Amino acid sequence: MIRIAIVNTKGGSGKTTLTVSLASWLAARGKRVAIVDYDPQGSSLAWLGRRPATAPKIIGVKAHDIDFRINRSYRLVDGQEVSYLLMDTPAAIARQNLIYFCRDAHRVLVPVLPSAIDTHACARLIQNLLLNGGLRHDQARLAVVASRARHNTLAYTALQRFLATMNLPIIATVRDSQNYVKSAELGLGVPEMPVRQVEKDLATWNSLGEWIEAVPTDVQAFQESKRPTSVAGTFRSAGVVGAANQGSFVKDPLSVPAMLRAK
Ligand SMILES: Nc1ncnc2c1ncn2[C@@H]1O[C@H](COP(=O)(O)OP(=O)(O)OP(=O)(O)O)[C@@H](O)[C@H]1O
Ligand SMILES: [Mg+2]
Repeated sequence: MIRIAIVNTKGGSGKTTLTVSLASWLAARGKRVAIVDYDPQGSSLAWLGRRPATAPKIIGVKAHDIDFRINRSYRLVDGQEVSYLLMDTPAAIARQNLIYFCRDAHRVLVPVLPSAIDTHACARLIQNLLLNGGLRHDQARLAVVASRARHNTLAYTALQRFLATMNLPIIATVRDSQNYVKSAELGLGVPEMPVRQVEKDLATWNSLGEWIEAVPTDVQAFQESKRPTSVAGTFRSAGVVGAANQGSFVKDPLSVPAMLRAK
């Protein structure tokens, strides 16, 4: 079972939108998908509640009231033959608790709004994920998704440059579009909506979904996962901003936005 944690301690950064869209992409391809919703707001579960009976099934697990320090995510779907487990997490996670969401995850996806405030908050989060989330020695498990992005804006470019200095890829760029608002109302993922309506969005989900499908399941790969450089090329060719994998690791990420502003 591949486990993906969707994490950002900044509220409204696009965690639930990323979770349900990715879940629907996988479910539409016949995968057995579960969403474990750790957020007391229960937005992912509410979306599942609005899901038409004819749509491919996605299992929902209410997890906001379980003790995540003791209960491993995959134990919550015992006996249900799940092949992809997506963890939708709340904004309010204390930094010392990040480890409980990251420890079982093959990939940790961080949706970030391209804005100065969110980029700064992202810097702090990434520092915490590396120091407290146990990702310092396995940074390849971590990837950023730009949420509600508009290309060619200063804020988007600043986010890209900031992440490049940290050797972190923007693995996908989710367009700012009313399609996501409709998707939330309908209980359908954007990848499942009529093609003529979402054709500008499909490349993002096809690329991200294929990247997730390519995640190795075996234990060694989990321990030693390395991001294949070809992935960056795939994303670039799909019109999604690719990884900027060069550059040295920045020890103090909080200094980076200040550095960018100074330019
Ligand atoms: N790409 C997008 N285009 C337009 N609207 C979007 C997009 N992504 C998210 N939204 C809207 O932004 C709002 C916040 O998104 P979402 O609920 O996914 O964030 P979140 O990180 O899960 O929030 P919270 O921290 O409260 O759980 C929602 O109203 C959602 O419909
Ligand atoms: Mg949410």
